[in-house]
Amino acid sequence: MKKKKYLMALESSCDDSSVAVADLSKKQLVDVMTYSQDIHRMFGGVVPELASRDHLKKIPLLIDKILMKNSIHLRQLSFIACTNRPGLIGSLLMGLMSAKTLSYLLKIPFSGVNHLYSHIFAGFWDRKVKFPFLAMVISGGHSDMFLVRDYTDISRIGFTVDDAAGEILDKIAKELDLGYPGGPFIEKYAKSWDSPEDLFGLPVPMKKKNTYNLSFSGLKTACYIILKKAKAEGSVDDNFISKLSFSLLGAISDSIYAKAKKALKDLSLTDIIIGGGVMRNMILRERLSLRLGSDGYRVHIPGPEYCSDNAAMVAYLGMIYHERNLHDSLDLNASPGFD
Ligand code: KG4
Ligand code: ZN
Repeated sequence: MKKKKYLMALESSCDDSSVAVADLSKKQLVDVMTYSQDIHRMFGGVVPELASRDHLKKIPLLIDKILMKNSIHLRQLSFIACTNRPGLIGSLLMGLMSAKTLSYLLKIPFSGVNHLYSHIFAGFWDRKVKFPFLAMVISGGHSDMFLVRDYTDISRIGFTVDDAAGEILDKIAKELDLGYPGGPFIEKYAKSWDSPEDLFGLPVPMKKKNTYNLSFSGLKTACYIILKKAKAEGSVDDNFISKLSFSLLGAISDSIYAKAKKALKDLSLTDIIIGGGVMRNMILRERLSLRLGSDGYRVHIPGPEYCSDNAAMVAYLGMIYHERNLHDSLDLNASPGFD
């Protein structure tokens, strides 16, 4: 019998089914496989019922595939980690039930993982950041800020009071008929805008407010107003979309920058991790690294492949929970909310 030394991690909080395996003795990620659901494209947004049904089909196939490819037998698993909050409840339950079933049948411990916490540590397989640090998760469902003192000592100190940054990128892309998810389309158009001084004057919400909270709905409304006018004038062309996309990413970047700088200064921190799907965006990555970097802060952004939802990041926290004997019982529930 081969040695029992692997951890399996599952992630299914939204529209990505993802499975990862890590080697606990070497503390190394072995492999991660992610299936991004495309059934939602025609609806211009995630349809929760369809997402759950697709996870139900894909999770067992991914588990089978990753084990086969890496010649690992189910009996060699010694720990299961699984996202159990926050997210779409039906989607979360698909991953959680799979994790609990494996845990029960294989008689191995498992632990639930907070999706936002796993985004924070997504880059740790490659490079660790010394505690304490500031972290921001900028995704389709969240735009939150955290003070991170340790893997298990994390305080949420800010959040979006309305829409998340990715949510407005998806909504504006939908209004422009660009496709779903909207972020990559907005990035493509923004990159082709070559007059950086010529911008739509968009607001940078909450910039001056004495809070770590963010807000993006005012920015979305401002874009809608500009778009409505352009549609009425018949001036929506590639040039217009590029200028709007570039202006929008500029306002999002300014907003994240203002809040990050304030928190880093107030809390006397030197390092910040910025993760989440929206941080795949090269313009945001470059701008935030440059601006916060020139203020003297160290900016850590996980590789683009680890910014989107994936089970490798769940595996990392799972490994820490395993080391610290932090297990959950089989009656652990999924939760749509953060707590
Ligand atoms: O973290 P994530 O994969 O899922 C959530 O937990 O929400 O983030 C998905 C979000 C979507 O809103 C998508 O449009 C956005 O990330 N996104 C991007 C890019 N790629 C994905 N936003 C801007 N630029 C991109 N290249
Ligand atoms: Zn996410």
